[in-house]
Amino acid sequence: MKHTTWILLLLFAVTLSGCRGYRTEKEPIHLNPNFDWQAKVKAQSAPRPVPEGTVAWGNGPISDGNTTRADYLKEDSAYYAGKLDNGSFIPNAPIHVTPEVMKRGQERFNIYCAACHDRVGTGKSQVVARGFLPPPNLSDPRLIAESDGYIFDVASNGIRNMPGYRRQINEADRWAIVVYVRAIQKSRSAQYSELPDSVKAKLQ
Ligand code: HEC
Repeated sequence: MKHTTWILLLLFAVTLSGCRGYRTEKEPIHLNPNFDWQAKVKAQSAPRPVPEGTVAWGNGPISDGNTTRADYLKEDSAYYAGKLDNGSFIPNAPIHVTPEVMKRGQERFNIYCAACHDRVGTGKSQVVARGFLPPPNLSDPRLIAESDGYIFDVASNGIRNMPGYRRQINEADRWAIVVYVRAIQKSRSAQYSELPDSVKAKLQ
């Protein structure tokens, strides 16, 4: 036989001698370890494990004015959701109403809500004239009777065919809109006897 045949036979015998019929318990020989056993992040996994008990804040929805820790944590459910902890809507807006808040509410309402609801809330807007589903009159007795928390919730999360605006309008502005909606309702349902004397004089 030629040398090569002997060498091949020898290799075969050595290989066979390694087969004992069971799996080895030993770790395989790892000639080039690279960084194989280093702590690392696998592709497509979360960038870094979050330590237990971490409270997220600092990258909430982007809307101007959303800058304080409370704004990101949103723990105060009355202010941030218009609801009590038991889930029922709060009756009155949890803000101090000033002429500035009213003006801000009017401005935001005209920007965000009037496109569909029109500036006095009757729902006869351009969007509706061009075929969008007509919203109800905001001065409908049913909506006058609803709580401030409910109106806030509709503005935030939308309802049926209306989209929510919590990503575009921060909480302070949504509450300003709610109190402005109240002003619209008041202005459209006021009785003559409720008018200030100066206005009564003008009407006579
Ligand atoms: C894209 C158009 C559109 C915009 C913008 C819009 N709404 Fe509406 N809104 C609707 C429609 C449509 C309905 C009726 C939804 C339904 O009943 O399917 C509605 C309903 C409502 C209701 C009555 C909910 C009920 O109980 O029936 C309130 C209150 C309201 N909107 C407030 C607001 C406020 C506040 C804003 C601004 C932040 C706003 N909407 C912006 C279209 C709009």
